[in-house]
Amino acid sequence: MKAIYAARASMEDPISALEIGELDAPTVPEGWVRVRIKSASLNHHDLWSLKGVGLPADRLPMILGCDGAGIVDDGREVVLHAVINDPSWRGSETLDPKRSLLSEKFPGTLSEYVYVPAANLLPKPSYLSWDEAGSLSTAWLTAFSMLKKAALAPGEKVLIQGAGGGLSTALIVLAKAQGLSVWVTSRSAEKRDRALSIGADAVFESGERLPDRVDAVMESVGQATWQHSVRALRPGGTIVISGATSGDAPPAELTRIFFLQLRVLGSTMGSIEEFREMLELMEAKKIAPIIDSTYDFTEALTAFARMNDGELFGKVVIRFS
Ligand SMILES: NC(=O)c1ccc[n+]([C@@H]2O[C@H](COP(=O)([O-])OP(=O)(O)OC[C@H]3O[C@@H](n4cnc5c(N)ncnc54)[C@H](OP(=O)(O)O)[C@@H]3O)[C@@H](O)[C@H]2O)c1
Repeated sequence: MKAIYAARASMEDPISALEIGELDAPTVPEGWVRVRIKSASLNHHDLWSLKGVGLPADRLPMILGCDGAGIVDDGREVVLHAVINDPSWRGSETLDPKRSLLSEKFPGTLSEYVYVPAANLLPKPSYLSWDEAGSLSTAWLTAFSMLKKAALAPGEKVLIQGAGGGLSTALIVLAKAQGLSVWVTSRSAEKRDRALSIGADAVFESGERLPDRVDAVMESVGQATWQHSVRALRPGGTIVISGATSGDAPPAELTRIFFLQLRVLGSTMGSIEEFREMLELMEAKKIAPIIDSTYDFTEALTAFARMNDGELFGKVVIRFS
């Protein structure tokens, strides 16, 4: 089957580790189903995989991709949940120590066909296009789960670090839909303007001093913004962190964290129940994911380069059929 995969790892030049070609269909456990992918979208996770982060050499070649939507062999139109649990696990999916995401242990969605447990399917919302439905599984679900963890009330202020990424654009749109006051930082003036156009109430340069303290910060940039995030919070405020794109060694700000009694909450993906809740909210408000660009699968190198360059605003989508 046609596939976009990591053939090797390169920390310095992740795009050089990417190949497009034919791979054999995998052997999968009983109870898994085959989905013909219509559209799948990229996440920063795919770049980490090409860098060898979370994807050891003995699992290569590995088909990339955590997001996707397509058609099951029985004709159902579905979106895919990317969290794969150990069959013996009982309890919250994202706390399973043996969990993986599609493309970590099992082949991912950037392929003509993907195989997933039958329980990992949700009906595709009919008002969304294939490209939009294929953009929901990772960044959007993570954004929804991060906001849920912060448990903010309408009118409270949330600061989102970064504007242009798949996760950041999802956070902006979902936070606005929940009635929050949405403040956003970005390195780029153009992206700050675009953040305003999709619902941000105020925008700031990365690291800029804010006019007021916020109730919560959504953090995924890591080293470059961590200190700003901690300093932006009111006493008792909450940081929800799901990524460290720019690095993992910021000043810890321990004194400020204990003195102001801040809450720091880690967040990874979300449960299929949260995915269902998010789709209900999106359908009720007729929200669609922000798409940066769409490519045919033969143009995967260009699509990945766009994400690697950091110029994007929203999701980069790859179409298979
Ligand atoms: N834990 C999870 O389950 C989970 C799920 C989804 C994503 N993540 C993580 O979240 C991060 C974002 O993922 P994504 O797919 O949205 O990636 P992406 O589309 O590549 O977006 C990168 C984001 O980071 C911001 N950024 C990058 N470098 C920055 C810097 N030096 N200073 C300030 N901002 C910077 C960008 O903001 P501007 O360009 O606007 O400045 C942009 O919003 C990744 O680290 C990813 O691994 C984790």
